Order: sequence, then structure tokens, then C-alpha cells
Amino acid sequence: MNRVTELLGIKYPVIQGAMQEVANAELAAAVSNGGGLGIIAAGGKTPEEVREEIKKARKLTDKPFAVNLMLMDKNTPDVVKVIIDEGVKVVTTGAGTPKPYMKDLKAAGIKVLPVIPNVKIAKKMQELGADGVIVEGMEAGGHIGGTTSMVLWPQIADAIDIPLIAAGGIGDGRGVVEAFVAGAEGVQCGTIFSIAKESPVGNNWRKAVIDASDTGTAVVGSTIKGGATRGIANQKAGELFELEKTGVSRDEFNDALNKGLYTGVKEDDPDNSFFMAGEVAGMIKESKPAAEIVKDLMDDAQRILNQKIEIM
Ligand SMILES: Cc1cc2nc3c(=O)[nH]c(=O)nc-3n(C[C@H](O)[C@H](O)[C@H](O)COP(=O)(O)O)c2cc1C
Repeated sequence: MNRVTELLGIKYPVIQGAMQEVANAELAAAVSNGGGLGIIAAGGKTPEEVREEIKKARKLTDKPFAVNLMLMDKNTPDVVKVIIDEGVKVVTTGAGTPKPYMKDLKAAGIKVLPVIPNVKIAKKMQELGADGVIVEGMEAGGHIGGTTSMVLWPQIADAIDIPLIAAGGIGDGRGVVEAFVAGAEGVQCGTIFSIAKESPVGNNWRKAVIDASDTGTAVVGSTIKGGATRGIANQKAGELFELEKTGVSRDEFNDALNKGLYTGVKEDDPDNSFFMAGEVAGMIKESKPAAEIVKDLMDDAQRILNQKIEIM
């Protein structure tokens, strides 16, 4: 037990990161049933679709789960209403500040965990009343900041008092131990759960992650404010890179990116899909049930911690 497991009412301090189009009720419930915290991604969904996913997850698990708000989405105020209405207990937020929604979420007794990329924002979120922060390094899949996990986690651990959940590049027990040594009290993983057995992605997406080498991902959109996004370095990533060079607006770029992501899940087309994934794809070699992923991360971490490590 630590502050994260207590705060979230979960067995293991392992969170399945929100993944637009990927993190649905089935995946979230499977993670929660495995003792971690599953998250339903609201990004790209209508408020009613989010309500349906919440209801579906409730049928699949009696354990806590969360909903992630993609703050860039224009329908966020309506999604917040659904989350409050449905009695969701935990919300994570991505791509922006949750400030406009904080009062209502807190008044409804909801725990708020913003995903953040630097020390300045970590301090701001603490002042704003966040219950913890998910600190994501630029190794991560999806939208990213500009600093690596290795240097970000300890600096933020030194700067705040609320619990730190580490994200970005965690794929086995070594990553969990590294995060805890840096000051984290929990971990959030995305890429490894994106190809869990319960994930809705198809065989080509799974293969792209499993076949990826250590240098198999690329960042597109880094010249657009808030646009930097990591995924498998395939044909679609090349096209997005070219699109970015034409000077399109952030909204136009995001539309193209989201279409690539949507195609990835719905059609599993290896050329015309943007398979969002982190650098950790290089070390993920199989698709496992979500509960097994949670258990293996923790067992592996415990095994490492039980070893006597001598450095002199
Ligand atoms: C396919 C995919 C989609 C993602 N979509 C979202 C999202 O909708 N909201 C969000 O806050 N983070 C999103 N992320 C980031 C993850 O929640 C998580 O923080 C990240 O994947 C952790 O790094 P890792 O990929 O190295 O495990 C996404 C990541 C992936 C791989």
C-alpha cells in the first residue's frame, strides 16, 4: 500500500494510460480486474459515447476505473458533465490544463490526476488542487512534451508533495523500479497495454509494436504548438511529417493525426494508419492479457528489488 493505491482504491500502483480510440471499456475493465487502474479514453468520443463506455465498464468490473479527458476536444465541458453524472471517481487529463473544470470535479468528490510534462506545470497543478500528477517523459506514445523520463521524474519529485505517477518508457519491472527510485509512487503505461489481448487494435497494429526496434518510433508535429506526437515510424508518420511542413494549423494537423489513429483501430491498415506508440515498443515482444501485464510488472519489480545490487 502507498499513497497512490490508497488514493485510487487499487491493489497495484499500475495505471493503464488513456489511449484515444484504444482504451475502451473492455481494456479498462480488464486492467482494473487485474488490480491496476483502467482508464477509458474520452478523446474523440461524443459525450453519449463516453456514457456508454462508462456503463459498459461498470458491467465488466466492480473495481475502480477512471476516465481521461482530452482537453483539446471542444466537447470537454459536456464530457465533464457526463463523468460527474455517472459518478466516476477518478479523472486523468491530457493535452492542456484542467483548471476550468477543477471546481466542479472536486465538488463531485472526483480525484484529478493531470498528465504533465515539466516542473512548472507540476507545481501549478499542485496549487490547483490536483490529487497527484502523472509525469510523462518524451519517450511515451501519443502527445508528448520535450523532456525525457529519466531527468523529469526526479526533478518533479523534488518539486511537489502530492503523489507522482511516472509514465513514458515503462515496459517491464526495471522501468517500475527506476520510476520508484526516482520518487514515483505509481506508474502509468500506455504502449504495453495498447497491444494487450483485450485491446481493440488489430493484428497489423500489434505486429508494428512487436516488430519495432529501439529506433522504431518517430515524433510528428513537433513544429506545431502542442502537436508533438509519437508513433510507429511508418508511411503514415512520413505523410504527417510532410503535412506539418506545409504550415497547416494545429486543428488541421490534429484532424489528420486523429484520422490516422482512427483508421489504425477501425481498419488496421498498416500504411494509412498512425499507430501511436512509445519508444518502449522496442522491448515489447508479445501480446498478453491485461491482468498478466499488471502482475508481471509488479512481480518483476519485486524480484529486482529483492536482489542485492553491489556497485563497488
Ligand atoms: C495509442 C496511444 C494513445 C494515447 N492517447 C492518449 C489520450 O487520449 N490521452 C492521454 O492523456 N494520453 C494518451 N496517450 C498517452 C498514454 O496515456 C501514456 O501516458 C503513455 O503511453 C505512457 O508512455 P508509454 O507509451 O511509454 O507507456 C496515448 C498513448 C498511446 C500509445
